[in-house]
Amino acid sequence: MSICEYRPGLENIPATQSSISYVDGQRGVLEYRGIRIEELAEKSTFLETAYLLIWGELPTKAELDAFKEEIQYHRRVKFRVRDMMKCFPESGHPMDALQASAAALGLFYSRRDLHNPAYIRAAAVRLLAKIPTMVAAFELIRKGNDPVQPRDDLDYAANFLYMLNEQEPDPLAARVFDVCLTLHAEHTINASTFSAMVTASTLTDPYAVIASAVGTLAGPLHGGANEEVVSMLEGIGSVANVRPYLDGLLERKAKIMGFGHRVYKVKDPRATILQSLAEQLFEKFGRDKYYDIAIELERAVEEKLGSKGIYPNVDFYSGLVYSKLGIPTDLFTPVFAISRVAGWLAHWKEQLAENRIFRPTQIYTGTHEAPYIPIEKR
Ligand code: SDX
Repeated sequence: MSICEYRPGLENIPATQSSISYVDGQRGVLEYRGIRIEELAEKSTFLETAYLLIWGELPTKAELDAFKEEIQYHRRVKFRVRDMMKCFPESGHPMDALQASAAALGLFYSRRDLHNPAYIRAAAVRLLAKIPTMVAAFELIRKGNDPVQPRDDLDYAANFLYMLNEQEPDPLAARVFDVCLTLHAEHTINASTFSAMVTASTLTDPYAVIASAVGTLAGPLHGGANEEVVSMLEGIGSVANVRPYLDGLLERKAKIMGFGHRVYKVKDPRATILQSLAEQLFEKFGRDKYYDIAIELERAVEEKLGSKGIYPNVDFYSGLVYSKLGIPTDLFTPVFAISRVAGWLAHWKEQLAENRIFRPTQIYTGTHEAPYIPIEKR
C-alpha cells in the first residue's frame, strides 16, 4: 500500500469514519448526531446530550429517567480513591489529579468485557457519574476540607456546583453550567479525542482511555487555553491597553489564547453561545470587569487577523462564564474534561466496532547502515 502525503499535525487527514458529530469550519456549523448545537443548547440537557452522543439517538423519557437514575446511583466515589486523592500535593494541577484518579478507577472496575453492551454502559455511566465528584473532591481536599457527598435531589450540573461551592446553586447558574457542559461535550477528531481513539484501539480498559484523553486535553493549545485566556485578560488590565498588548503578542509571533482553530475559520458557534450565557449571568449577578476587555480584544483581533480566519474559539468566553459561576481558574480545564468525557466515550464505543489498532507510518529521514563507534573513540 503506498504512503499518503505527510501532513504536519495530520491536518485534513481522516483518522476514522464517524457519525457522532460534524463541523463545517467555513460556515461555523456544529452538529451532534445531526442536531445543531444551537438547538441542543436551547432545548436539551447535558445528560440527554451525552446519551445522544454515546448511544446515537435521543432517549425516550423512560430511557432518560433510567439513565439519570444510574448516574445518580454511581456518583459517589470509593473511599480508597478519595483517600488516594488526599495524598496528592495541594500544589498539583487538578488536571493531573483528574488523570490519576480516572486511571485509578480502572483498579476497581478493570474487568474488561469490551464486546458486552452492559459492560460498555456500566463503564460509561461510572465515568460520567464519578468524574465531576472527583474534580470537586480534589478542590475541597486541597483547601483542607472533607469532600462533600453528591446530593440525590440535585441534577447533574447543579450537583457539581453544589459539591464545589458547598452551597446549592442559583437555578440560572445551574442551567447556564448545564449548557456549558453540552457545548463542550464533543467536537469530532480533536487532539484529546484522537488520543482516546488511539488508546481505545489497543482494547485497553475505558478508564485508561479517559485518562489518556485527560492528559491530552490539559495542554494550553487544546483544553488548557480557557485558563490562559483569563490570565491574558488580567494581563491586559484595561480596554485602553488591548491594542498595545495585542501588538506586542503579534510582534513576538505569540499565539493569542482563545483564538484560532484548526477547523473553524469563522467565530466558533460555541463562542457565540457562551458569550450570550455570560451576558445572562452578568445581567443577574453583575458584569465581569474583564468582559469589556474581551470584547475589545475580539474586535482588534478580527481587524488584524480576521483575513487569516483567526476568530474566537470555544475557550475565549468560557472562562468569564466559569468565573461568574464561582469556578476557580485552574478548574476550567477539568470542567472541560467533565463534559468531553461524553464525546470521548462515544468515540471509544464507536472505535470498538472498528476493532483495528492505530498504527500510522512515517517518512524516514535518518541514515542507514551506520557503524557502531566505541565510546572511547567518540
Ligand atoms: C480547542 O480541535 C478541536 O476541535 C479543539 C477544540 C475542541 O472542542 O476539542 O475546539 C477545543 O482546543 C480550541 C483551541 C484552544 N486553543 C487556543 O485557543 C490556543 C491558541 N490557538 C492556536 O494555538 C491555534 O489556533 C490552534 C492550536 C487552535 C490551531 O492551530 P493550527 O490549526 O495548527 O494553526 P497554525 O498554528 O498552523 O496557525 C496557522 C496560522 C499561523 O500563521 P502563519 O505562520 O501561517 O503566518 O494562523 C496563525 C499562526 O501563527 N494562528 C494564530 C493563532 N492561531 C493560529 N496567530 C495568533 N494567535 C492564534 N491564536
